Amino acid sequence: MKTIALIAQKGGVGKTTLAVNLAVAAGIPTVLFDLDPQESAVMWADRRQSDSPHVEFLTERRLPDGLKAAEQGKYDLAIIDTPPAAGPQALTAAQSANLVLIPCRPSLVDLDAIRRTATLIKSAGVPAFVVFNAAPHSATTLLEDARAIAEGAGLAACPIILRERSAYRASWPIGRTVIEAEPDSKAAQEMIELKDWILAQLQGCSPEVVQQQTDETQRQQEVAVP
Ligand SMILES: Nc1ncnc2c1ncn2[C@@H]1O[C@H](COP(=O)(O)OP(=O)(O)OP(=O)(O)O)[C@@H](O)[C@H]1O
Ligand SMILES: [Mg+2]
Repeated sequence: MKTIALIAQKGGVGKTTLAVNLAVAAGIPTVLFDLDPQESAVMWADRRQSDSPHVEFLTERRLPDGLKAAEQGKYDLAIIDTPPAAGPQALTAAQSANLVLIPCRPSLVDLDAIRRTATLIKSAGVPAFVVFNAAPHSATTLLEDARAIAEGAGLAACPIILRERSAYRASWPIGRTVIEAEPDSKAAQEMIELKDWILAQLQGCSPEVVQQQTDETQRQQEVAVP
């Protein structure tokens, strides 16, 4: 099982939005642990008439046991959503993760807050990427500047940019994700690109390659069995 943590000291940058959208987009057995006392991800799941993905509130103290049980319960992916603070939940989540994503709106006020998140990530010693989210449609210079500021804080930037899209706000109240509610939208396309990129980071190669390898291994096993 691989674990991804969504962390950002700044509020309203898209941690929960990315957590729920990625949990569905992943397309593999996924558990979402909500470490935020606001329980936004849990409330999203309550509106959703489906047990998948499994969403559960946990304190950071219970997280290690939760992850262990999830792995034994045959989940392939755990996603951890955290509150908007560089506090104990964020630190425990970062220390438990294979990969940390730091959603950030490409604006100075958000980028100013990123340094404290960067310090926390460094102390956890885990690979991390800033994901620029809700970027205005014509923001090339803004994004270049934002990337430079993130890199100046010692954080790498994810090459997939999520733009400001109405599909996020439309899908949330019905407990859906952009891929489910508006599958042909640009928001859905960007989310699939982000998911593919993240899974490739976690697995060392793209999901298509992993699937091909799995199919090939199964084929060889079938041939080998008399
Ligand atoms: N790419 C996007 N385009 C448009 N709206 C977005 C986008 N990403 C997030 N939002 C909206 O921004 C708001 C805040 O998002 P979200 O709750 O995911 O942030 P958060 O970082 O989890 O906040 P908090 O720190 O309070 O937990 C929500 O209304 C969400 O629908
Ligand atoms: Mg949130």
